[in-house]
Amino acid sequence: MVKTGSLISPHVVIFPFPIQGHINSMLKLAEVLCLSGINVTFINTQRNHSSYLSFSDVQSRFGCFPGFCFETISDGLSTDQPHSAGFRNSQDVDMFHRLKNVIRPGFRDLLTSDRFKIDARGPVSCIIADGILGFAIDVAGELGIPSISFRTSSACSSSIYFCLPKLIEHGDVPFKDEDMDRLIKNVPGMESFLRCRDLPSFCRAKDLNHPSLDFVIAETSYSTRATAHLLNTFDIEAPSVSSNASLYKEDRSCMTWLDKQPEKSVVYVSFGSIAMVSREQWLEIWYGLVNSGHRFLWVKRPDSLLAKDDEESHVQAEAELIEATKERGYTVEWAPQEEVLNHSSVGGFFTHSGWNSTLESMVAGVPMVCWPHLADQQINSRYVSEVWKIGMDMKDNCNRLTVEKLIRDLMDVKREELMKSTAKVADMARQSKGSDGSSYRNYEGLLQFIRKTC
Ligand code: UDX
Repeated sequence: MVKTGSLISPHVVIFPFPIQGHINSMLKLAEVLCLSGINVTFINTQRNHSSYLSFSDVQSRFGCFPGFCFETISDGLSTDQPHSAGFRNSQDVDMFHRLKNVIRPGFRDLLTSDRFKIDARGPVSCIIADGILGFAIDVAGELGIPSISFRTSSACSSSIYFCLPKLIEHGDVPFKDEDMDRLIKNVPGMESFLRCRDLPSFCRAKDLNHPSLDFVIAETSYSTRATAHLLNTFDIEAPSVSSNASLYKEDRSCMTWLDKQPEKSVVYVSFGSIAMVSREQWLEIWYGLVNSGHRFLWVKRPDSLLAKDDEESHVQAEAELIEATKERGYTVEWAPQEEVLNHSSVGGFFTHSGWNSTLESMVAGVPMVCWPHLADQQINSRYVSEVWKIGMDMKDNCNRLTVEKLIRDLMDVKREELMKSTAKVADMARQSKGSDGSSYRNYEGLLQFIRKTC
C-alpha cells in the first residue's frame, strides 16, 4: 500500500530482525521519525505482520502518518507456523539459510520493485537495518543507498561483539565450564567486572565453528560497512515513546488486578518473547515466588515451557502451587509490559534482562532480579547488578531458595539502596529526553543525517 507523503521529506526504509524484541525498538524509532515528518516504510515478514495487525492497535497508531507504510516479505516459513518459530534459536542452521536465501533476495526484490519506483514519497533515501541483518547493508551498498546499522541490543553487548576477534585471539573464547568466574581483560572499560559467565551466551560455544558465534562475528563485521551506526541506548539511555507492537495478544485483566494491590507490593515476572524454561526451572521459580511471601504478576507465555511432562511429582507440585498462587499471584500469557512497569503497585521486576525490558524497567524506576538466558542478556544483567547497581544477577543459578532470597532482597532487605540507584537512573533517563538532554541531541543528529540523504 502506497500513501502520499511529503515529497521533500526523506524516505527511510526500516528493516528489523523478525522477532518481538527487535521489532519493538525499531517500530518505536519508526514512530518518532514519522512524528518528525520523515516518510517511513517498515518491513515485516508476512507471518509477523499478520500476527500483530490482527491483535493490536498498530495499524490505527500509524494510520495518522500519511508518509508511513508497511511492506512485507516472505521468511520462507508457512504462515500457519507460530510467529515465534524459525528465528529465535540462534543455533538453528535453517535460520541462517533462510536469511541468506529467502529474506535477502526478497528484500532486494522489494527495493527494486515497481512499488518503490512509483512511490509518491520519492525514492528510498536511507535504509536503517537491524545490526544483525548485515546483508541489508550490502544490498543498500549495491543500490547506492546510504545505510544505518541499528543495534537493538545494549551498547555494552555491542562493545563485546566488536571485541570477539580479540577475545578469540587471546584464548578467552570459547571457554571451559571451570573458567566461569575468570575475569576477562580484553574488553576496554570492563576489565574489573567482566567474567566469562557474563559474556554473550554464544561465547559458551564448545568450539570456534559454532554457527551462532560465526553469525555474530560475521554480522558485526558486516555492520561496519554501514554509512552510520545507531545504538539503542541513552547516557545510560531510554525508549522515546511508550507505544508497543505486540505479536502476542495482551491480557489487560492484569491491570484490574494490579489496581487492587497495595503500592509497590507486586513483583512483575516476565522472561521476554523468546526465552524458554524447563519444567524444573518453572517449578523452582514458582516455589521461590510463593515462598517469598510477596505478591507477583507472572507472564507465562504458552510457548515458553520447553516440555510439559506428566511426571506425578511435577503434576502434584503444580496443583499445589496453583492453589498457593490464588492468594497472592496472578498469571497472564502476555501483559502490556510498559504499562505494568509504570503501575504504582509494581515494586520489582524479575526479568530475563532482554534489552527492551531492561530499558523499560530503568525508565519506570523499577529495580530488578535478573535471570539472563541468551545473547546480550548475560552482560546486561552484569551491568544491572555491578555497574548500575539497580538489581541482582541470578545468572546460572535457578533454584527456589535463591529465587526466594533474591525476591526478598529486592522487595525488603536491599530495597532502600536499590531504590536510590534506580531513582537516579530513571532521572537520568528522563533528563536525556528533555530538550537539553543527550538522547534528544543525538536524535537531532540522526535527523540531520537522514535529511542530508535525500
Ligand atoms: C531479545 C533479546 O533477548 C534482547 O536482549 C535483544 O536486545 C532483543 O531480542 P526479547 O526476549 O524479546 O528480546 O526481550 P526484550 O528485549 O526485553 O523485549 C521484549 C519486549 O516484549 C519488551 O518490549 C516488552 O515490553 C514486551 N513484552 C514482554 C510485553 O509487551 N508483554 C509481555 O508480557 C512481555
